[in-house]
Amino acid sequence: MDLIVDLGPGTAGRTAAVYRALRAAILDGRIPAGRRLPSTRALAADLGVSRGSVAGAYERLVAEGFLITRVGAGTFVAAAPVARRPAGSPADPLRPRAGWTLVPEPVSGTGPAPRYDFRAGIPDARLFPFGAWRRLVAAELRLGANSPGTYADPAGHPALLSAVARHLGWSRSVRAAPGDLVITNGVQHALDLIARVLLRPGDVVAVEDPGYPPARRLFASMGVRVAGVPVDADGLVVAGLPDRARLVYVTPSHQFPLGGAMSLARRQELLEWARTRQAAIVEDDYDSEFRFSARPLEPLCTLDRSGRVLYVGTFSKSMFPAVRTGFLLAPPGLRPALVAARQIGDFHGQTAVQAALARFIDEGQFARHVRRAGRTYAARHARVVAALAATPGLEVLPSAAGLHVTALLRPGLDAARIVAAARRDGLALEELAAYAEDRSRAASGLVVGFGAVDGALIEEGLALLRPLTA
Ligand SMILES: Cc1ncc(COP(=O)(O)O)c(C=O)c1O
Repeated sequence: MDLIVDLGPGTAGRTAAVYRALRAAILDGRIPAGRRLPSTRALAADLGVSRGSVAGAYERLVAEGFLITRVGAGTFVAAAPVARRPAGSPADPLRPRAGWTLVPEPVSGTGPAPRYDFRAGIPDARLFPFGAWRRLVAAELRLGANSPGTYADPAGHPALLSAVARHLGWSRSVRAAPGDLVITNGVQHALDLIARVLLRPGDVVAVEDPGYPPARRLFASMGVRVAGVPVDADGLVVAGLPDRARLVYVTPSHQFPLGGAMSLARRQELLEWARTRQAAIVEDDYDSEFRFSARPLEPLCTLDRSGRVLYVGTFSKSMFPAVRTGFLLAPPGLRPALVAARQIGDFHGQTAVQAALARFIDEGQFARHVRRAGRTYAARHARVVAALAATPGLEVLPSAAGLHVTALLRPGLDAARIVAAARRDGLALEELAAYAEDRSRAASGLVVGFGAVDGALIEEGLALLRPLTA
């Protein structure tokens, strides 16, 4: 019999090698159904292995139904053990459903960090107290803690729901009871739950343009029509909203990526628009723990009197993105469905991490970290703004929170060329047009993150822009 067996060195694993070779030959049709196999003695001699190895392989194939033995007659290949691939059909026939055209985006945090790392929205992991965090997580991973043998509440660990409710009260003036919240794996997961629960294929979802691409991609994946709406100095242009929008996704505290805060008048206009159109608003408050002005505007949801705002937040910036923890403050009519959607999707989050985070907040360590890191970020923000303001050809847009600022380029300057040339010098920053629905109509500018870059590297790195923008 023509049987190719890669036995490798030594005797260990020979039974498995004979088994694999026979199984592959049967599945490929090289040994057809009904064919009688050689005796174990003959095949062993042929392959130069012990008879026991061949007998072991036959036994396993019989047990799995690939072979049958007939007493006195020998061992045979069973009739059609599995359906074979018809000649000419592709080896990889499965495709996503119609309309699913997305592929994973490159991940910005992988690979060696550039020398001057001004990529948007990356917090400085060196500022985070990992020692204290590790102790808290380790304590929650004991056998006696958090009932590890059972499933947990899909809405989130009760201690974390309470801690987040308190945290929202003191840090953002948002009134929430633990029972109004759902803990999620970050904002992205919150958007996924909201979209599953609220949207139907064919609905219209309005997003800011320029805006946050992962949100746009998530809504697009649900088979809805995503409409980009312009943003001006007051925030999303409410007059530009499509009449039929069922959901509007906005970043009022720190527009991503332009950096401005939505004005009070625009907030009221948006709330009124949603009330009359019976639409929902998703308010993404992703990074305003770090703010650099005396009196920030309170979140949009605190002005909402018609129950149309879903407020989402994250610990990705205030701690670090890999902690994958965020929250969703849901109107009472939606919360049961949102909790059910969480349970259907993945049952619940990491209980030990949630319990540790509750203690991190309750013991004041989270607030201390945000205060300390916030001072560092405020200093970096001021240095970056000063360095950009001193760079010819740039107009820095006002921004009083978060981990990035945006600057417009003088007409005639080519942002793509500047970003590529800077990258060759080790300076990583982003093109504003990368966040626009249509690059060809986008304003020309640069998005400059300052979370991860420190000290003299700020001025040194941004000085590399001068010859490119002069
Ligand atoms: C607008 C916006 N929302 C949310 C996030 C973070 O989301 P997540 O909690 O999924 O990490 C970011 C991070 O860059 C962001 O820019």
